[in-house]
Amino acid sequence: MAATRDNKPHATGRVPAGDVTQRVGVEQMTSRGVNIEELREKLIDAAGAEFTTYYYYTILRMHLAGKEDYKEICEDARLEDRSHFELITPRIYELGAGLPRDIRDFADRAGCPDAYLPANPTAVEILTVLLEAERCAIRTWNEICDLTHGKDPRTYNLASRILQEEIEHEAWFIELLSMERDGVARPSGHFRRGNPGDAPHSKNMPFYVP
Ligand SMILES: [Fe+2]
Ligand SMILES: [Fe+2]
Repeated sequence: MAATRDNKPHATGRVPAGDVTQRVGVEQMTSRGVNIEELREKLIDAAGAEFTTYYYYTILRMHLAGKEDYKEICEDARLEDRSHFELITPRIYELGAGLPRDIRDFADRAGCPDAYLPANPTAVEILTVLLEAERCAIRTWNEICDLTHGKDPRTYNLASRILQEEIEHEAWFIELLSMERDGVARPSGHFRRGNPGDAPHSKNMPFYVP
């Protein structure tokens, strides 16, 4: 039924007018069945994994010394993890939560294992660490997509954009590890990003300035 001058069905709701202690953006998700507390916690864990992975990939990239192609791919994945952290962090605050005050707490609760430099840092060993880190990220963002699909379009949009890049990252490292370790071609379909860490799906700029 069309709205009329006296009937604006969305003008009011469960959150009282002028109440700044509640968010309609959250209340609407709750009414659609999202467990906000669970989602917040998972998003903080996921942001922690992106942030720590960005850090650890810095070290891994350094130790791919002499392998310029591997370094470049690692750098793309590294910078895109930073982009993922940047993309999801504002959403955590919008949902009424925030990052831990102490970065040590943040690192400890990261949702994926530390991507440590292997004791024997050959290209095969480093690529294996990179591959498994991407796989953890895919599982993480798929779960966020599942929790928000059809109920929280905003978080879903962010998570699905991140997921697309994580799936690309897995394919890159499968290609490199397969050839480096087994001599078998398993193409990713990838050539190269335009600029290092281009983050075609997760970059912030087009999102905030459409
Ligand atoms: Fe990531
Ligand atoms: Fe990734």
